[in-house]
Amino acid sequence: MAQAMAAVVASDLVTPLKRPFPNDGLGDENNNNNNGGAPDEKPPQPRAVARRRDADPATALAAARHEFGEHGGVNMSIEASATFTVMEPDTMRRLFAGELGPDRGDMYIYSRHFNPTVLALGRQMAALEGTEAAYCTASGMSAISAVLMQLVGAGGHVVASRCLYGGTHALLSRFLPRVSGVTATFVDADDEAAVRAAVRPGVTRVVYVETVSNPTLAVADVPMLARVAHEAGAKLVVDNTFTPVVVSPARLGADVVVHSVSKFISGGADIIAGAICGPASLVNAMMDLQDGALMLLGPTMNAKVAFELSERLPHLPLRMQEHSRRALAFATRMQGLGLRVAYPGLPDHPHHARLAAVGNPGHGFGGMLCVDMGTEDRANRLMHHLQNTTQFGLMAVSLGYYETLMSCSGSSTSSEMPPEDRARAGISPGLVRMSVGYNGTLEQRWAQFERALALMQPPQHQLKAAADRDADAAGRKH
Ligand SMILES: Cc1ncc(COP(=O)(O)O)c(C=O)c1O
Repeated sequence: MAQAMAAVVASDLVTPLKRPFPNDGLGDENNNNNNGGAPDEKPPQPRAVARRRDADPATALAAARHEFGEHGGVNMSIEASATFTVMEPDTMRRLFAGELGPDRGDMYIYSRHFNPTVLALGRQMAALEGTEAAYCTASGMSAISAVLMQLVGAGGHVVASRCLYGGTHALLSRFLPRVSGVTATFVDADDEAAVRAAVRPGVTRVVYVETVSNPTLAVADVPMLARVAHEAGAKLVVDNTFTPVVVSPARLGADVVVHSVSKFISGGADIIAGAICGPASLVNAMMDLQDGALMLLGPTMNAKVAFELSERLPHLPLRMQEHSRRALAFATRMQGLGLRVAYPGLPDHPHHARLAAVGNPGHGFGGMLCVDMGTEDRANRLMHHLQNTTQFGLMAVSLGYYETLMSCSGSSTSSEMPPEDRARAGISPGLVRMSVGYNGTLEQRWAQFERALALMQPPQHQLKAAADRDADAAGRKH
């Protein structure tokens, strides 16, 4: 209570503030259309922004404000309260009027609105992605759908890459058109002319891509897409789930970066969470009591979950380095065995040079690779041996775990897509997506992979029987 009283007294001295995140000017342009934004109070501070954008993500994370616990703990305290008390009734009025808030007087209303622990995690995410602000949500899909609903009003238009996670594809092709009249045009996001042709100035609100696409591992040309989107007055929203630390889309021109935090950022395969990283004006607008998609749809992250995640972010750069190192080693060796491998770290990947140019130095090419086994049957047999015979990894969707996870995308995480869209996106029925883990030693894991692959070859007596059958059949024809 003493703390609350101190906050009230301090708050009496401050000037009215409408938005909890102070704005440094990056988000001004978000306030001019239907995104629920409002005029910003603070003048732009471009030099501070430039400094933050230049930073490497690991450096920026380490430089972010360290939150200490209530009793001097090295870890921050968890603010588990759903609601927050005040000393005087008028303080409540001022909170609801937006005169008081998290950054002035450290005052909070209710945890579906800003929560101190979730906000602290948001600051770490903003540092990671080099954005002005960030806030975290209950899942990646809630982050994506809330951002799209906030930025694209009823009847608005989205230009999206045709290579997207199946759930996002379904959201854009089915759910949003059904509930809001939002339409999407799916394009080859690498084809600048196609993107330009699809963008409708004044109608298209968002260009949407994944930095490295799920599951095909195409690398988006973020600077080009940002140019095209901005020329048409649209925002570029980039899903960076596959490549946190490895690529920083906002540092390359993206307006908003979204994450499924459930993946590499969590690293534990035990939490479902999401994040929205972008201008302060967007995050504040999304928490607006009247118009905000986060405030009104309520995909709230629990403070205890936010605490858990905030403990994992500091070792994300180390984990990503090892995911990347193992994935490159496996991709190179698999290719050496004659397998059809897609990995952006391989020199023959069509976007290898692009990722090498825009990736953050020292963090590799990411932990995801794909092996095309040709048919679903062969893909399934390989995964069966890898899990059940040699213990190389686990058959499971999702990614970013310390164990290797593998799934056949066409029949799992991309099964939402109609077959013709899957084919256009380059998802063959035999595509095995692997999230390369880092437990065990690299050589131990490689030996397990080679043993499983050897089991895919039919035994010698079966090969001979097949050859005899072929010879018989050929003899009968003659
Ligand atoms: C690239 C990508 N974005 C978003 C999502 C959705 O995230 P979540 O499962 O946390 O809702 C996924 C989930 O697989 C994904 O792979």
